[in-house]
Amino acid sequence: MRQKSILLAGNWKMNHGPSAAEGYFSAIEIAPKANAQMRIYPPFLSLSASLNTVEQKKLPIQIGAQNLHFEKTGAFTGEVSGPMLQEIGITQVLIGHSERRQYFAETDETVLKKTISALNQGFEVLLCVGETLEERKSGTTNLVMETQLKLILSDEICKSALGLKLHIAYEPVWAIGTGLVATPEQAEETHAYIRSLLVNSIGAPKADTVRLLYGGSVTPANFKDLLACPNIDGGLVGGASLKPESWMALWNLI
Ligand code: PGA
Repeated sequence: MRQKSILLAGNWKMNHGPSAAEGYFSAIEIAPKANAQMRIYPPFLSLSASLNTVEQKKLPIQIGAQNLHFEKTGAFTGEVSGPMLQEIGITQVLIGHSERRQYFAETDETVLKKTISALNQGFEVLLCVGETLEERKSGTTNLVMETQLKLILSDEICKSALGLKLHIAYEPVWAIGTGLVATPEQAEETHAYIRSLLVNSIGAPKADTVRLLYGGSVTPANFKDLLACPNIDGGLVGGASLKPESWMALWNLI
């Protein structure tokens, strides 16, 4: 039986500026849990305010960035690099979210470059994968998982970081922000498939240590059933992470 180490991660996307972030963390009251970690990914501009408030209140919450550029410096207008994030104390980063892939032309190649760069700089990475509604309907979900993870699972830096500094979030695109949550059976089926890909690449003992998070319309009403699945190690939550009440309710279900 796998020993689960739960991660509850909130992705604020383009919500909550610095003062809203400060207000949010001021309203959060949570007790630490031995088997679980809480993390929030605020927008870049709210990272410092989030870090400061969490530190002042001594909250057991990690703060991470939603993206980073794979180069450390240079002519990349509008981008943010690893060293800049580290300068303000960020050690966590989300990479390859479907909105980055969909609206900002991120590909499996750029996702790989970002992941390698982040790992080489010492960041812990949560890598996102997920199929579209069309892909699910045409029965190619497993193939999409295989394709999106192929470069990662054949790269030595990524392989050695898996389970340590590299974890994975499965987010079916059709379930993100739609209210259409995957059923626990659907989610578990894909998580088990991703776990089998990991076993093939890095072997069972190490594959077991990789956190596989489910994301897509997670709420306090459905989280417990998802968490009960053997291969689901937590949630990556958008909408329900935006209000302290629903966020704390999710934490209290772990
Ligand atoms: P959602 O977003 O919980 O609002 O569906 C999840 C995500 O995109 O990370």
